[in-house]
Amino acid sequence: MTQRIWNFSAGPAVLPESVLEEARNNLMSLGNTGIGILEHSHRGKAFLAVYEETVALCREIGGIPDDYDLLFLQGGASTQFFMLPMSLLSKDQTADYLVTGAWSEKALEEAARYGKTHVACSSEDKNFSYIPKTCNYSEKPTYVHYTSNNTIFGTQWSGMPPVPANVDLICDASSDIFSRPIDIAKHGVVYAGAQKNLGPSGVTLVIMRKDLVERGSKDVPTMLQYRTHAKNDSMYNTPPTFAIYLVGLVLKWIKQKGGLEVMGDLNRRKAGRLYSYLDQSKLFKGTAAVDSRSQMNVTFVTGNADVDSKFCSAATKAGFDGLKGHRSVGGMRASIYNAFPEAGVDALIDFMRKFEAENPA
Ligand SMILES: Cc1ncc(COP(=O)(O)O)c(C=O)c1O
Repeated sequence: MTQRIWNFSAGPAVLPESVLEEARNNLMSLGNTGIGILEHSHRGKAFLAVYEETVALCREIGGIPDDYDLLFLQGGASTQFFMLPMSLLSKDQTADYLVTGAWSEKALEEAARYGKTHVACSSEDKNFSYIPKTCNYSEKPTYVHYTSNNTIFGTQWSGMPPVPANVDLICDASSDIFSRPIDIAKHGVVYAGAQKNLGPSGVTLVIMRKDLVERGSKDVPTMLQYRTHAKNDSMYNTPPTFAIYLVGLVLKWIKQKGGLEVMGDLNRRKAGRLYSYLDQSKLFKGTAAVDSRSQMNVTFVTGNADVDSKFCSAATKAGFDGLKGHRSVGGMRASIYNAFPEAGVDALIDFMRKFEAENPA
């Protein structure tokens, strides 16, 4: 088999090797069923067992209370940008958005189709390089939406934003879900595309309080109503069975590792090592404000686009993939989600150190 390399992709991203091996073993036959996981009917006993186990693990690991529905939807997190306001926001209501990057901007734009929107804070003035310290909420927001980790700009809310009492908080956790403990009960909705921390692309996990599911508009297409999926265990239509199966394997892996506290420690340690190196480097520097740094996406530059480019090419040759930064930030981005191994972070730091020695600032 071709040797696997260090994959710093922002998503789809690296998956635990043990998960990939187990999936490979079940491609031809899921357990002793004689039918591969890709070929099982979603209505059959074998897949239903996979589904039940995945839901149970998710509830256990995420500490998801019973009054929340757990849905596996399609259309990516981007579909949630419009599906949520379509259900929960009407023309005469206002939804507040905390705008900390390109993804929150997109969510805001979609909400404006369905009701009034208010930007309660924004870090656009400094190219989204920080998490604002204060929010200025509208008088009576229907909900508050935030993006817990800004994949492109390398910033992350260190905790939940302060929200007015009795206002439902909605979190796009696409790039940091289950990377640390999360207090679901303090949110109305938490959603995440799976392809960074949870599994492959093709499925979006939506954790939604049941009263919000019920409150949702009935005046939208059946497939776009949360109640449709809640009533049918996410199987109103054919669900992405393989993606759900893979999410289940990743959750099992998280549980074996010790759960979200352990994941949080591991991720803090990995990101901490990379930031420590950046802080003493004379060539590289982090782009995010120190108090807003992401533990998932570490963004950095040399300050010279040609040197950035030289670094990325040299890194690719040396077996480090996916380090080129998003075009709106430039430079480099190391995405080090749950499954990215500590050894890969150490290897990157060694490589950067060597590059710096050969290319002094
Ligand atoms: C924070 C965040 N939200 C939303 C999205 C969009 O997700 P999807 O591609 O699943 O629609 C991404 C994709 O990278 C993201 O990082």
